[in-house]
Amino acid sequence: MKAALLLVLTIWFSAQDAGFALPTSCSLPPSKWCSSLDTAIQCGVLKQCLEANFTRSHQTDAPVEVALYYESLCPGCRLFLVEMLFPTWLLLNEIMTVTLVPYGNAREKPDGQKYVYECQHGEQECLGNMIETCLMNMTNMAFPIIFCMESSSDVIKSAQTCANLYSPQLNWDSLMGCVKGDQGNQLMHQNALKTEGLNPPHQYVPWITVNGVHTEELQEKASTSLFALVCSMYKGTKPEACGGTKRTHFKSYCHNE
Ligand SMILES: *[C@@H]1O[C@H](CO)[C@@H](O)[C@H](O)[C@H]1NC(C)=O
Ligand SMILES: *[C@@H]1O[C@H](CO)[C@@H](O)[C@H](O)[C@H]1NC(C)=O
Repeated sequence: MKAALLLVLTIWFSAQDAGFALPTSCSLPPSKWCSSLDTAIQCGVLKQCLEANFTRSHQTDAPVEVALYYESLCPGCRLFLVEMLFPTWLLLNEIMTVTLVPYGNAREKPDGQKYVYECQHGEQECLGNMIETCLMNMTNMAFPIIFCMESSSDVIKSAQTCANLYSPQLNWDSLMGCVKGDQGNQLMHQNALKTEGLNPPHQYVPWITVNGVHTEELQEKASTSLFALVCSMYKGTKPEACGGTKRTHFKSYCHNE
């Protein structure tokens, strides 16, 4: 499983070098498509495999709920999402849920029925936040697409390629309709409300909550090894993946002045 994950990441990072080449085509019989993460991706059935695995999983307790409050262009957020959150979710999706709230240190001002947004890293970041928000509303492959965007050298430019890769049936024009229209504007307002409703209020991003709770200790543990944290907090029978732990430290914040 870890080898499979490494392979997935290798595919991604080489796809990045090659300007986002599509993954190599699928030459396996359907019975083998879900045998590993890389075959699932190559054969374009990652979502189906994850769902199939989920339904026949031996989940024996409520999943650990991890929420990430972040900004699309904040370097520490990107690092945490790409190097820690997504890989952990790939291995532990049976026992954890992930909620992404792209907003972070942004500000909103009402403007008639709508809101005007100002983002810490400028307009491009507002656009990235909006694309990711609309993706979450329009496809259940949003997390792999967001991972793909955040791991690429240009978060915004890679968006369409990443969406095509993981969700070829998603209509780009409808997505842009959401991004530029009232729907996206209202969805972003929900992100603003969620972020502003944090207790304690966030002081930086990435800001992590586990089962709705933020403490410095949980943040520290999540940044050091989210994998070990989720495994230790899950009260049901531990999945096989929890047998080993990974120890890496990813911590870099964009402060909310
Ligand atoms: C599905 O579960 C099997 C058995 O646990 C595992 O080997 C495989 O990698 C999983 N596939 C995906 C796509 O997670
Ligand atoms: C998408 O957004 C609309 C509001 O614009 C909401 O009613 C709907 O439940 C959302 N769907 C998902 C899957 O989040």
